Amino acid sequence: MGIKIRGTGSYTPDKVLTNEDLEKMVETNDEWIRTRTGICQRHIAAPEQACSDLAEKAARAALEMAGVAPEELNAIIVATISPDHIFPSTACLLQHRLGATKAFGFDLEAACSGLLFSLETARGLMSVNRKYRYVLVIGSEKLSALVNWEDRNTCVLFGDGASALLLENCPDEEDCFLASDLGVDGNSLDILSLPAGGSRNPASVQTVTDKMHYIHMAGRDVFKLAVNAMVSSCKKVLEEANVSIDQVRWLVPHQANARIMSAVAQRLPLEEERVFINIGKYGNTSAASIGICIDEMVRSGQVQKGDYVLLTAFGGGLTWGAILIKW
Ligand code: ACO
Repeated sequence: MGIKIRGTGSYTPDKVLTNEDLEKMVETNDEWIRTRTGICQRHIAAPEQACSDLAEKAARAALEMAGVAPEELNAIIVATISPDHIFPSTACLLQHRLGATKAFGFDLEAACSGLLFSLETARGLMSVNRKYRYVLVIGSEKLSALVNWEDRNTCVLFGDGASALLLENCPDEEDCFLASDLGVDGNSLDILSLPAGGSRNPASVQTVTDKMHYIHMAGRDVFKLAVNAMVSSCKKVLEEANVSIDQVRWLVPHQANARIMSAVAQRLPLEEERVFINIGKYGNTSAASIGICIDEMVRSGQVQKGDYVLLTAFGGGLTWGAILIKW
């Protein structure tokens, strides 16, 4: 029995915020942002757009590519750290919006590793129960709502966007998912978190005054941990699948920082030409980034049947992982 990716979709909002625009907002400059991160611009959602609105556009694109109707969906998983609300889940809102009358759904929170964790979860569901024929996996983020636009350490990094992958259970075909490795380490609250708004620090005048509803990050610490964790996960999945790094057509890393991606490629090792990088256009879109890459690769014909594609991610939690796919 096999699971296939039947459709892909992505969406980024119309509004573009360039590095030059940011120069007018905080003490930064285009050269610093480009050389330290690889980012040139990012897309920013309109005030009336929330996570589910971005997700809906990506979802419809994936369904259209596959020629599958929303009523045929059995489940919807939305990876996000910027849901419309704490509850109901964004997946519930999306189910209603799409008219996915047969689907159940839930949100999954694993920060930038969310798409990988969701793919693994979908794969588990579909392997255990064949009645799940179509599962829609989405990464959707409105990070502009979680960013402190006065903090140059973080505001230059993030962007908004969504991506969707439609999985189909195909009993007579080979599984496209060859191997996976996922991990978490909860001993890292200090280096990457959004401190308030949950039950530990409920919203109050004090939490707002203390700017606790924004992303807090110790970038340098995250950088080192990210490289080590992604390299280790990639090596594990290659070994498990008995595939060599030379056979991999594309490494698709979470788009957090071009220097992190280069460091991972160097250590695997793999030439930079085989690393898919689009961070320049979108910044870090957290759970959405890997799916946006995949959609671009599919629509531009850069990935072909039989290609080995190695996905890897790292994010708040800490969370990390890698999944090897045979396209
Ligand atoms: N413009 C100009 N200068 C800046 C800016 C800016 N936007 N931001 C920081 N600086 C300054 C700092 O203040 C510091 O100045 P100092 O030396 O006088 O103190 C100097 O630049 C260097 O700062 P560093 O933090 O050491 O810069 P670094 O090279 O590490 O790059 C960055 C920072 C881009 C954040 C990098 O560390 C990084 O990408 N980290 C990983 C981010 C990541 O992967 N996050 C995970 C996912 S996010 C999630 O899960 C939600």
